[in-house]
Amino acid sequence: MEHINIYSGKKAISRIVTSDSIKGLGACLEPFRSIFAVIDKNIPVNSQLMEILKAKNVRIKYIVPSEEDKTLETVMDICSWLLENGADRDAMILAVGGGITTDMTGFAACIYKRGVRFGYVPTTLLSQVDAAIGGKTGVNFEKYKNILGIIRQPAFTYICPQVLESLPKRDFLSGVAELLKTFMIEDNGNYQKAADLFFDIQSEFHLEVMMYGKDEKTQWRELLKKHRKTLTALIAAAANIKAGVVSRDQFEKGERRKLNLGHTFAHAIETLAQQRGMDITHGEAVSMGIIMAAELAERLGVSQPETINVVAGLAKRLEADFRACGLPIDCPFSIDEMADCMKKDKKAEGGKVHFILPQAIGDVVIVDLTVQQVVELMNAI
Ligand code: GLY
Repeated sequence: MEHINIYSGKKAISRIVTSDSIKGLGACLEPFRSIFAVIDKNIPVNSQLMEILKAKNVRIKYIVPSEEDKTLETVMDICSWLLENGADRDAMILAVGGGITTDMTGFAACIYKRGVRFGYVPTTLLSQVDAAIGGKTGVNFEKYKNILGIIRQPAFTYICPQVLESLPKRDFLSGVAELLKTFMIEDNGNYQKAADLFFDIQSEFHLEVMMYGKDEKTQWRELLKKHRKTLTALIAAAANIKAGVVSRDQFEKGERRKLNLGHTFAHAIETLAQQRGMDITHGEAVSMGIIMAAELAERLGVSQPETINVVAGLAKRLEADFRACGLPIDCPFSIDEMADCMKKDKKAEGGKVHFILPQAIGDVVIVDLTVQQVVELMNAI
């Protein structure tokens, strides 16, 4: 078990616990007398996690998380439930689920009775390495994603890869993109360790399923179980990096923007996919977006030649790594099609967007560019 703190100045304001077992959650909940949990309906009822919550007499509200219902109405519904059940200012509001569940429940806790304590048990890889760390809460509004919200830190986040073993492979891989993204911002040798791990998992999975005809779901679960310790260490390393960035720049005035690596492209991809009825997850869009950011960095002359493969460059190395990990790399839209969505990026300032560009693994820079400049650079032969 590892403990990581998020600081405001010298004061620890949020604690992240990483563990390869869910059992430690009980100790985390120990100080709280009155706990109200908002839980993703997809969490298996007979899981160890639910046993722990039942033993603590936690009151439970289930939600079915979706981007469409990530709204103020759902937040008000959570607040009504808290009121009806007598949650007072001493209550601990627990969110158990992926990013949509933690974002909305965190937001409800921030405004209920002008703010009560809250904690997270993220149950997707994506939320374990990104969404549940750093205190961004909020909802979608008027077609904009996460446009209403507050940055406030949860009292604790309990991160346990054991709960990921019931996650569908595609959802799991969505989080792999965010994990690799984190190590591209700060490496310490973890990028290669993660790329190797997911390559091994993919290879073993294909061997067992294609060659020996094993059941996909069972095989995936077994592989995650087999590699749980390595995965826990990588998730803890990513949480550590994000906690450091957030401690230095909680309100995203500078360094925290680096965590948006690939995201300006990704948000455009997600918007177009939604408009055209295509099924692309956030992590898949991030994977494609990071490759595009690496290409842009090369075209701007920002990225250094790759020492491993000087001829190919960073973008080609990332393409090979991401593909080997099972991530999609080819964006189905042209940069011209994406331009309009990128102009509407909510983080754009004075006509320019903060593009995060990788110089090398573990080293990214923030470059302010107009969308027009990006379109011209990406279209240049
Ligand atoms: N997901 C990026 C951040 O938390 O800043």
